[in-house]
Amino acid sequence: ELVVNLEDTGIKIQPTMYGIFFEDINFAADGGLYAEMIKNRSFEFTLPKTGWMEPNSDRHSYNNESGFLSVIKYAEEEANHNFARVEVKNDEGYVLINEGFRGMGVKEGAQYDFSIEAAKRSGNIQKIKLQVIDSLDNVLGETSISPDSDSWKTYESTLTASASEMKAKVKITFEGEGEIDLDMISLFPQDTWKGRKKGLRKDLVQLLDDLNPGFLRFPGGCIVEGRTLARRYQWKKTVGDIADREILVNRWNTEFAHRPTPDYYQSFGLGFFEYFQLSEDMGAEPLPILGCGIACQFNTGELVPMDELDPYVQDALDLIEFANGDADTAWGRVRVDMGHPEPFNMKYIGIGNEQWGPAYIERYKVFEEAIKSKYPEIIIVSGSGPFPEGDYFEYGWEQLKQMNAEIVDEHYYKPPKWFRENADRYDGYDRNGPKVFAGEYAAQTVAIASPDNKNNWNAALSEAAFMTGLERNAEVVHLTSYAPLMAHADGWQWTPDMIWFNNLESFGTPNYQVQKMYSTNPGTDLLKITENGEKIIGKGGLYATVAKDANTNELIIKVVNTSEVGQNLSIIMEGGTTQESVEVLTMAMDDLEAENSFKDPFKISPKKGTASVEGNMLKASIPAQAFNIYKVKL
Ligand code: AHR
Repeated sequence: ELVVNLEDTGIKIQPTMYGIFFEDINFAADGGLYAEMIKNRSFEFTLPKTGWMEPNSDRHSYNNESGFLSVIKYAEEEANHNFARVEVKNDEGYVLINEGFRGMGVKEGAQYDFSIEAAKRSGNIQKIKLQVIDSLDNVLGETSISPDSDSWKTYESTLTASASEMKAKVKITFEGEGEIDLDMISLFPQDTWKGRKKGLRKDLVQLLDDLNPGFLRFPGGCIVEGRTLARRYQWKKTVGDIADREILVNRWNTEFAHRPTPDYYQSFGLGFFEYFQLSEDMGAEPLPILGCGIACQFNTGELVPMDELDPYVQDALDLIEFANGDADTAWGRVRVDMGHPEPFNMKYIGIGNEQWGPAYIERYKVFEEAIKSKYPEIIIVSGSGPFPEGDYFEYGWEQLKQMNAEIVDEHYYKPPKWFRENADRYDGYDRNGPKVFAGEYAAQTVAIASPDNKNNWNAALSEAAFMTGLERNAEVVHLTSYAPLMAHADGWQWTPDMIWFNNLESFGTPNYQVQKMYSTNPGTDLLKITENGEKIIGKGGLYATVAKDANTNELIIKVVNTSEVGQNLSIIMEGGTTQESVEVLTMAMDDLEAENSFKDPFKISPKKGTASVEGNMLKASIPAQAFNIYKVKL
């Protein structure tokens, strides 16, 4: 018998409680959310012809009887300093292929926007034809442009795909003879999220939006810090005209990637403006995390000297101005010029991802001082290091507590068992200390980031059990997010991940479904649920939490049963009456190894049902290995 006490506890569940952690890992941005289909569109990768090849050839000579491709670097200091020069020697027509991000996805009947910057140099190249082809060279759609200027000019045209294909390529044929310079060769689906030109992949944003996220944390993760300080994420280089955003080798390109991905770069087409805009679209608080002058832990551990920290701090101050400042401010003007006159109303900023020890605290203090003196209303998120235990963790927390830090970010990648055994993790946290951001967590079925990890029901159910503890501790836990968020089926570096996609399709894992059950049923006020007067944290495999939703005036009772037997529960609403029948969402699966897949995307997903009520007693029967939510109208 479980007892729900309807008395107000005075504890609010923050609207930010369940959010999203986005990092450009596993092709989540380029090749994923950012819908550009051409890889290395501006020839800026370290090997500048990466992604481009000659047809029917493994050779990368770019030089044959009919033509020649060279990449020209026109300036050292410019952000986007390369372009391609194509020389067509005879009227055979020189051809280039772009391989996309492990191919390109096209859908029958859908339209695609081709754009290219070109300048004719000599002779007369009359036509540039773009065709989408399949592996057998069948043409699935084509369009062309006719270059007519010897100055740089942007040409645009559209094609319609005649068939669907997941691993298409783009074939570009140059007709005529002569020399022409090319840059920013681009192909985008027209059907993007909110129909924005050169925008985001609709199905992927939809999966995120469906989570009803309380916040969007961006842009990572380790990519914030960079493998070296020079390669850290610098938000200022990710705003403004996309052609001027300086490309960067992705931190997940090779090192500490279980599956090295040497062609992984950041074009920053999805940059800070787009992250803020996406947060706004989803009604999520934007939560940018900035580097604090420490390179990523797994590599050099490079530290910026204290007397060279200023530019890093200035980046943080300028970011607040970019997001919230008006058109009279330098950075507010940049946002306005990008088409967003209203402020983004940014409330949070994170300083440093997953850093620890005296080096972090010393640097964090400088940021805190500078941000709080100029923007006292901005809430700062600090960090506690990689895994939530050990001396450095204790040290960081102690220091941050003494400094009255507002929110501390904790990360944990642990076995499923750990999640089931730690649902009481926050029960002892100081209610008067800093609040917690459980900023990255995910059950690892084999070992941290092992390529053999599975997004199976065992992992998801264990997270569901653990999350009852996050909610029960809403007084101290204010933000939470699973990580990593997304992975391309052919381009990942880390498992497990919440959403999997290929070039055409996407699906939410059971872990996604668990997150969604919580985030779409968050409640506003925490209440108490007990069994024999005690909290329900794992005895007999049972975990529970209850919240009231003041907007809908209903109780939201979350119960997780990790045991191998179903349980018939009576839930007494102490001090209240209920309606006769209540809505129940059930996610259950007897096979703990079961997973969702492209073929069976909803295999493990919530099913709707009802439960009956007698007087103030809810008859709740929960299957074995199940997560149930009961929604009781008051
Ligand atoms: O989520 C993957 C990585 O795990 C993140 O980039 C980093 O913050 C953590 O170590």
